[in-house]
Amino acid sequence: MINLSSSSAAETERLGEIIATQLNRGDVVAFVGDLAAGKTTMIRGICRGLNIQQQIDSPTYTLVNEYPGKIPVYHMDCYRENRLEEWLELGVNEYFFGEGITLVEWADTIMELIPDTAIRLWLDHNLDTEDSRQIRMEGPETVEERIVNLFKTQ
Ligand SMILES: Nc1ncnc2c1ncn2[C@@H]1O[C@H](COP(=O)(O)OP(=O)(O)OP(=O)(O)O)[C@@H](O)[C@H]1O
Ligand SMILES: [Mg+2]
Repeated sequence: MINLSSSSAAETERLGEIIATQLNRGDVVAFVGDLAAGKTTMIRGICRGLNIQQQIDSPTYTLVNEYPGKIPVYHMDCYRENRLEEWLELGVNEYFFGEGITLVEWADTIMELIPDTAIRLWLDHNLDTEDSRQIRMEGPETVEERIVNLFKTQ
């Protein structure tokens, strides 16, 4: 588990870009955090790091946004849909166990479906400063180490 802090949206995006350097086909990243915690902001950074050209916004009418790229990215948001059967019917396992990278906002609402191997990220507001966020990440140890080092030396 790594514990970092971000003092601006730009810094959270930058962390996303760093995380992207450690992602491969088939990876799943599960985001947990309140409204405006910065999940979509970090996902923008990850997508920038993965060279996605499209504009990144949370999926609204569709439950999953698909962004084409060298590695396709699937952007899911589970805020409004928390019924596991609906997600299964939609083919969530084809995303999770497919050839792309899947990024899941509000992953706690469907935690039973998230693969054990997923990288987990928790974003929390810091009560003292408006733009400050506490960010925790749990993933493979080597990935955690590389991310911490890259973030510190940015
Ligand atoms: N350190 C920070 N990291 C991320 N976002 C920040 C930070 N400081 C301020 N912000 C602002 O907080 C907001 C975060 O919004 P964002 O859409 O990324 O949150 P979210 O977690 O996806 O929320 P939702 O659950 O509503 O989808 C943005 O307006 C962003 O500019
Ligand atoms: Mg969001």
